[in-house]
Amino acid sequence: MDGNGRWAKKRGMPRTYGHREGAKVCKKIVNRCIDLGIKYLTLYAFSTENWKRPQDEVDELMRLFDKYLDEIFDNRKQKARILFLGDKAPFPAPLRVKMEKLERESEEYSDRTTVMFAMNYGGRDDIVHAARRAAQLVVEGGADPGDIDEKMLDSLLYTSGAADADLIIRPGGEKRLSNFLLWQSAYAELYFSDVLWPDFDEKELDKALNEFALRSRRFGGV
Ligand code: FPP
Repeated sequence: MDGNGRWAKKRGMPRTYGHREGAKVCKKIVNRCIDLGIKYLTLYAFSTENWKRPQDEVDELMRLFDKYLDEIFDNRKQKARILFLGDKAPFPAPLRVKMEKLERESEEYSDRTTVMFAMNYGGRDDIVHAARRAAQLVVEGGADPGDIDEKMLDSLLYTSGAADADLIIRPGGEKRLSNFLLWQSAYAELYFSDVLWPDFDEKELDKALNEFALRSRRFGGV
């Protein structure tokens, strides 16, 4: 969800204003994906590298997550399965408790859209975390190193059980993945948009989906 800072700066406002507007967009896009029956939506909300931002920006993002998680996921309105990708340990305790509660309480919607918030997430960290767990299975669980294969590592990732990414949408003009779903994006179609995230809306999402529908996917075959 890139471009919040630039969007705010263009309006002579602090970067945090852009994040606030970005959070509203987040809500719209979640709704649209639920309406379309999209099975998995992953939103990159906070990377393992984002802790390096000025403390006041990090604090404001934590406040926003706390506030909007309540609003976005009023389960009575939005029946979606909610998961968080990444290590929750560094988040403030009340936020962590909220994240865990949402994961628990939304379990009953497992057959509907799953919304995954990548928070304190990094694609490399995801792979390292899975590799550590695989090593643990060898050391403690009696597994053989030869048992470690793609299927096993895949099942140990934060996205365990979810499908690979089909389409990755990056708004904000940059053309890179920035450590997002590195393993899961092996055959993802990439869509780059110059629209800054606070201006991204349902129409922009539909544009990306329409282009995706025209792509020919061969997964290495012919
Ligand atoms: C990147 O834009 C955006 C972020 C690091 C934060 C994204 C978070 C939100 C949109 C709030 C989400 C709310 C919930 C409930 C998860 P940037 O700051 O790097 O923009 P820039 O490239 O213009 O500086």
